[in-house]
Amino acid sequence: MNKQGAGPERVFITGASSGLGAALAAEYAAQGATLGLLARRSEMLDQLIATLPNPERHRAYAVDVRDHAAIAAAAQAFMAHAGGIDVVIANAGISVGTLTEFAEDIPVFEAVIATNVVATAATFAPFIPAMKTQGTPARLVGIGSVAGIRGLPGAEAYSASKAAVISYCESLRLELKPHGIRVVTICPGYIDTPMTQVNPYPMPFLMAPDKFAAKAARTIAAGSSYKVIPWQMGIVAKVLRMLPNPLYDLAFAKAPHKSRKAAP
Ligand SMILES: NC(=O)c1ccc[n+]([C@@H]2O[C@H](COP(=O)([O-])OP(=O)(O)OC[C@H]3O[C@@H](n4cnc5c(N)ncnc54)[C@H](OP(=O)(O)O)[C@@H]3O)[C@@H](O)[C@H]2O)c1
Repeated sequence: MNKQGAGPERVFITGASSGLGAALAAEYAAQGATLGLLARRSEMLDQLIATLPNPERHRAYAVDVRDHAAIAAAAQAFMAHAGGIDVVIANAGISVGTLTEFAEDIPVFEAVIATNVVATAATFAPFIPAMKTQGTPARLVGIGSVAGIRGLPGAEAYSASKAAVISYCESLRLELKPHGIRVVTICPGYIDTPMTQVNPYPMPFLMAPDKFAAKAARTIAAGSSYKVIPWQMGIVAKVLRMLPNPLYDLAFAKAPHKSRKAAP
C-alpha cells in the first residue's frame, strides 16, 4: 500500500506512451504510486511523466519489448530505484490485419506474436524472482482482448496472439499461486485509443481510457483472475464462447476487417 493506503507502491507498465498504458500510469500516479514506464517513444514517456503527480519519482525506459535483455535491464533498474515491485502490467501491443494467403503478411504475423505474446512473458520474467522473495503481495497483469475469445476474420495474427495471452496467463496463474503472486488477465472490449481510432467500423460500448484504467486498477487490486472491461463486452464474450461454430460462422462471416500493413 502507498502512503495514502489507497493502492500499490511500485508499478511497472509497458506500452505506457499511449492509450491504455498512459491512462493506467495516470491512474496509479494519482493513487500515489512510483512508476516504471516502458515504450519505444521516450519523448512521449517524458511528456507523460511531466504531467503526473510526483514526476521525480517515476522512471522512463525507452525499450522495444522485443529486446528481452533490455526489458530485464529496465526491470532491474526500476526495482533498484523503487525498492521492489508490486504490480507489473504487460500492456504493450500492436493490432494489424493479416491474411495468411499473402506471404508478405507472415513477418507481420511474427511481429504481432513477438510483441503481444512473447514480450508478455519477457516482461514478467525478470520480476518473478523478486516477487517470490520480497514477502509482499504482488500482481502480474496480462492484457488480452475480446478478439482473443473467438478468431476474427482478417485479424488472424491478432486474435491468435490474444488467445495465446489468455491461455498463457492462465498457465502462469496456476504456477505462481502457491508463491502468493496473483496473475490477472484483463480483456478490454473497445477502448478509445490510437489503436482503435483507425477502425473504420462501429465499436459497441466504446469506453474512455481513463474509465477503463480506473476499472482495471480495481480489478488488479482485488487480484481477480480474469475480467472483461466494459462489463457489457463481458456478456458478449460469454455468448461468443458458447456459440456453436455454424452459428458463429453465420454471424461473423461478414465482420469488418482491420487494415493490413507492413511489419512494424
Ligand atoms: N484499445 C482497445 O480497444 C483494446 C482492446 C483490446 C485490447 N487492447 C490491448 O491493449 C493494449 C494497449 O493498446 P492501446 O489501445 O492502448 O494501443 P496504443 O494506443 O496503440 O498503445 C500501444 C502501446 O504499446 C507500445 N508498443 C507497441 N509496440 C511496442 C514495442 N515493440 N516495444 C515497446 N512498446 C511497444 C506503444 O509504445 P511505442 O510505440 O512508443 O513503443 C504504445 O505505448 C494492447 O496490448 C492492445 O492489444 C486494446
